[in-house]
Amino acid sequence: MAPRVPDEIDVFTAPHSRMKELVNIYTQKMQCVDFRDGPEVVSLLRGLDSTLREFKSHESIENIFIMDQLKNRLKQRQITNTAVCDCHGDNRLADVVQVLKTGIGVRQSSIGERLRFGLRLQRAFDDFVSNFIPHMEEEEQVFQPLLVEHFEYEELKILKEVVLKEHELV
Ligand code: FEO
Repeated sequence: MAPRVPDEIDVFTAPHSRMKELVNIYTQKMQCVDFRDGPEVVSLLRGLDSTLREFKSHESIENIFIMDQLKNRLKQRQITNTAVCDCHGDNRLADVVQVLKTGIGVRQSSIGERLRFGLRLQRAFDDFVSNFIPHMEEEEQVFQPLLVEHFEYEELKILKEVVLKEHELV
């Protein structure tokens, strides 16, 4: 395990705490919701839609403010790191979004259709989570040390402030 970096230059842990909180909330909700109950499913989908947008926004913020900066710095130093090049290339979040879209009109569906939809949604969400948790660990364990290696302390302090602001965590 990589050594913990000082909090003021740790760009991943705080946003990831929020992401993990959302993962836990929706993992639980997904297990408890009764997919036979139309209004209950509609309410789940509304909340999930906004949560998936938050995951997507997290990914975009990292791409723009962290990964692109890291890629540029490595390029300047003529260092190749393929993990940095495609760290958000996996499309399992897009898969959940796709399944969720098929739930439009679920209120009018038959109970059987709602149950089948529920299974598809649970599977897609579980698949996303099983990839997202190790992905966040990789960012903390691999990319944070790379940032420390290739950026000045003051640069990382500013970067962390920007990242928190973009996540609306300050
Ligand atoms: Fe922090 Fe790329 O998820």
